[in-house]
Amino acid sequence: MPRHPDSLLSLTDFNGAPLADDMVWKSFHGLMERHGYVFMSSVPETFDPVAFCKRLGDFVPQYTGVLVGDVRPEPGMEEFYHAGNTKPLYPHSEGYDFEGLPPRYLALWCETPNTGAGGETTIADARAWAETLAEADRAYLRERIWRWETTDAMRHLGLDLHPEHPVIEDHPDGTIVRYSFNNLVRGEDDRIGPLLEDAKNHFEREHVGIQYERRDMLVFDNWRMLHARNAFTDAGRHLRRIQIAHRVTQ
Ligand SMILES: [Fe+2]
Repeated sequence: MPRHPDSLLSLTDFNGAPLADDMVWKSFHGLMERHGYVFMSSVPETFDPVAFCKRLGDFVPQYTGVLVGDVRPEPGMEEFYHAGNTKPLYPHSEGYDFEGLPPRYLALWCETPNTGAGGETTIADARAWAETLAEADRAYLRERIWRWETTDAMRHLGLDLHPEHPVIEDHPDGTIVRYSFNNLVRGEDDRIGPLLEDAKNHFEREHVGIQYERRDMLVFDNWRMLHARNAFTDAGRHLRRIQIAHRVTQ
């Protein structure tokens, strides 16, 4: 396949003509700004997903310490709420259990798609959900501080975090929505329950389902989009996962 002389990415347009990198980045950021995610389908063998993600920002290590993680069924994890099995996941934002900022972007790259039904990554816009709320509810989600916790699977693996954050946080580079249906610690007589339920219902109605083929890559704005997964049966499903920190631009 011809390669553009200035290209590190080796991507082509709909006619198979080589694309300059600046054109790719302009399209990528334009789509990200508009939709909150970009899905790159069946990219060529020469495309390097790790090099692409490095252009977006510094990598945030996975819980295990590696920079590029594997998402696939792991032995002994079947009974946990955990990405490393074949069960569904509730909608959530990544890194709600981090002390500091959650990753700005999450990239999922398909090494081996699953056969059979399910196994989609589902995504929906949490800022759009927040816009549907009454102003008083949005203010409550901004002003109240909750305790969050890691999943039982992570505690089982020896990682037990309890950061404190609001659900909605204003940052100079955009609004951060943190969300977990099951790992935000709900207080007594707390009115958060119906709001978490409302976000989950919004997600069920509005989500887009991504079914992967080999060499597909999904990148989404994790400050804006919630993601989840539906169940699958093929234990051969294998994604790679990169968390990308927010890039400070000033
Ligand atoms: Fe996740």
